[in-house]
Amino acid sequence: MAELVLPKKSRVKKGKKFRAKPGPDGKSPRRTKNFRVYRYDPDSGENPRLDTYQVDLDSCGPMVLDALIKIKNEIDPTLTFRRSCREGVCGSCAMNIGGANTLACTKAISDVSGSVPIYPLPHQPVMKDLVPDLTNFYAQYASIQPFLQSKSATPPTERKQSEEDRQKLDGLYECILCACCSTSCPSYWWNPDRFLGPAALLQARRWIVDSRDEATGERLDHLEDPFRLYRCHTIMNCANVCPKGLNPSKAIAEIKADMVKRMI
Ligand code: SF4
Ligand code: SF4
Ligand code: FES
Repeated sequence: MAELVLPKKSRVKKGKKFRAKPGPDGKSPRRTKNFRVYRYDPDSGENPRLDTYQVDLDSCGPMVLDALIKIKNEIDPTLTFRRSCREGVCGSCAMNIGGANTLACTKAISDVSGSVPIYPLPHQPVMKDLVPDLTNFYAQYASIQPFLQSKSATPPTERKQSEEDRQKLDGLYECILCACCSTSCPSYWWNPDRFLGPAALLQARRWIVDSRDEATGERLDHLEDPFRLYRCHTIMNCANVCPKGLNPSKAIAEIKADMVKRMI
């Protein structure tokens, strides 16, 4: 019979509590918020735990990433997370905040009422704390061959595209590969090794629709598989969480339509 409880070693335990330090005037901070952060070090052999950090909001920037950086710099240097651009461009600070996958650098602290629960992206192995292992995610992205492929002779100048054809890339090229969509997709949770997931499929659509690419047939052949493409059941979690406002579900539906079109 299926085991419906977490294995003992996976159960999240109560962690430590860190109170905000008094300001330079020696007084306690006036406005504080608690951040409940998932902590896990697979090498330690210990269970994951939720540490609580009380942060002085009057000396912290407005975004959740500002709070994490403040915690790391001023309270607990052992906290581990990824970040780079702080502008919603690199996708590296993707995590689960207040129950939804999003980017820590564009998620306002004020958007979360009460204390702020922060976990790594779900259903991925955890390397440490808020850092998921995205090896499989990137391998799936590589599998769709995300680069222009052409068979015709290389033109002497750039490969031109009409304005109309260029517009077909809108809603696709903006993807920052943050993995928020794939890791919120139930179909991906159950078949992460065989279903390509919304992010890789949105990228596949980006190259299928590119008027300069000449490998459309091969790209569709690669996706013509009961798992790689057809495990999408239009649950729409992907579109609901995408921090760039993209709609992978629509891109997947369009690939499915391409499959039908080429059969008739
Ligand atoms: S489609 Fe959106 S959520 Fe998915 S990887 Fe791209 S930017 Fe992130
Ligand atoms: S629409 Fe498809 S890809 Fe998006 S969350 Fe649902 S099953 Fe996953
Ligand atoms: S730090 Fe680059 S998207 Fe958040």
